[in-house]
Amino acid sequence: MSPNAAHIITEFAYLAASILFIFSLKWLSSPETARRGVRAGEIGMVIAILATLAATGIIEYKWILIGLAIGGAVGVPLGFVKTTAVPQRTALSHSFGALAASLIGISEYYANPAHLTKFDVVEISLEVIIGSLTFTGSLIAAGKLQEILPQRPITYKGQNIVSLAVLSSAVILGITLMFRPGLTVLFPIMVGVSLLFGVLLVTPIGGADMPTVISLLNSYAGLADALLGFVLGSKVLIIAGALDGSSGFILSVIMCKAMNRSFTNVLFGAFGQVQAGAGAAAEERTVRSATPEDAADILKAASNIVIVPGYGMAVAQAQHKVRELYDILTKQGINVTFGVHPVAGRMPGHMNVLLAEADIPYDKLLDMDQVNSDMPQTDVALIIGANDVTNPAARTDSSSPIYGMPIIDVDKARTVMVIKRSLNPGFAGIDNPLYYLDKTLMLFGDAKSFVGEIVRELQGGHQL
Ligand code: TAP
Repeated sequence: MSPNAAHIITEFAYLAASILFIFSLKWLSSPETARRGVRAGEIGMVIAILATLAATGIIEYKWILIGLAIGGAVGVPLGFVKTTAVPQRTALSHSFGALAASLIGISEYYANPAHLTKFDVVEISLEVIIGSLTFTGSLIAAGKLQEILPQRPITYKGQNIVSLAVLSSAVILGITLMFRPGLTVLFPIMVGVSLLFGVLLVTPIGGADMPTVISLLNSYAGLADALLGFVLGSKVLIIAGALDGSSGFILSVIMCKAMNRSFTNVLFGAFGQVQAGAGAAAEERTVRSATPEDAADILKAASNIVIVPGYGMAVAQAQHKVRELYDILTKQGINVTFGVHPVAGRMPGHMNVLLAEADIPYDKLLDMDQVNSDMPQTDVALIIGANDVTNPAARTDSSSPIYGMPIIDVDKARTVMVIKRSLNPGFAGIDNPLYYLDKTLMLFGDAKSFVGEIVRELQGGHQL
């Protein structure tokens, strides 16, 4: 085949891959079409990789194969982590992607530094700065989510000034290199400073803001890839990077809206600090607890029930038991819906994925606004392993670190029942006044076994 024909085939393959990536994102936006979206993305990626491997200009395949083997050895086990660990796995993927982009940028620079144009250096420097800070920032985020590093914001006086100074020095070094590309000694300093900035960027961010940070890092990783596309002159990389970067950015905006916070507030607000004395306050007050039998009686007598799932449902893998509960209650003519908070669980769409896995009908999953308008007419709000997303302090206590974050207003239902194992706080590390209300009944236990016991009670009662 002539090199010209091979080039045309490669370009067509890249076009097909780009179209598949665009459809993939479109389909991923709805649970009904999400599986198709994943397939389209996978096929697009296989086409893009094969077209790149078949493209003319590859000198030898040895290093590509070694890279594939190392990447596969790390990537395959990562594909089998539990769904509760997906956020940290995602953060690790961002960090690997950003590292790859940085390393390619570094090698492009060192290939021929003296002959780079100003524009080449701008592209390479931007790509390496963003790639490097995303690499370390994502590693810190993964460490916080895996609880290897403290989840609370780590802050000190003058922190924002120090961080800004570090970022500015990376930019100044990039600008200097633009005018003096042959000053190779500056390049590793720029990389080092960018790596340091990634650490400084994420360390002060508290656990409760991690969803926004993960999607923001996603967007940075996409941006680094798009810039890499410019450096390498690869259109498919520019398109894939731009799609990744923009979708990550849109997700960050959605997350900020869900938490009623601005970007600057997320990045500099140290949200999610563990409240001093939260535990002591909890000990002084009393709660009312109930048995599975009591809970079953209350549910049977209700006409409208809203189930609010959270991270604890994911930990306990209680979604199939919840489906059994849903089936029994709806068979008895009770209207059961699910209130899904956008940041419930530990990743965007976490609850939707689990409830879809248990075949709960999509039209029964209501978003926060829909479910909140129904809450005053709701007989029972049944919270299964959720905590922060139901904390009324977000509405009522201006001193609370989560003040202003929209929550599911379960406290407005006639009766509230909460399944969790203890009075321990949730991810944000703060006490929940909901548990001490007169209308609240605590159902202490593991979500899967407690829901299972309620189901058994309801089945027993039904058969009589
Ligand atoms: P959390 O506030 O984290 O509360 C979960 C509760 O589940 C805990 O209080 C825990 O109480 C309970 N639990 C744990 N294991 C359980 C089990 N086996 N059975 C029953 N209960 C169990 O969860 P949420 O309300 O879903 O809120 C999510 C939080 O995570 C927010 O702060 C959010 O900002 C943050 N976050 C979200 C994301 C995304 S994108 N969704 C990503 C990172 C962080 P016990 O220990 O007493 O059982």
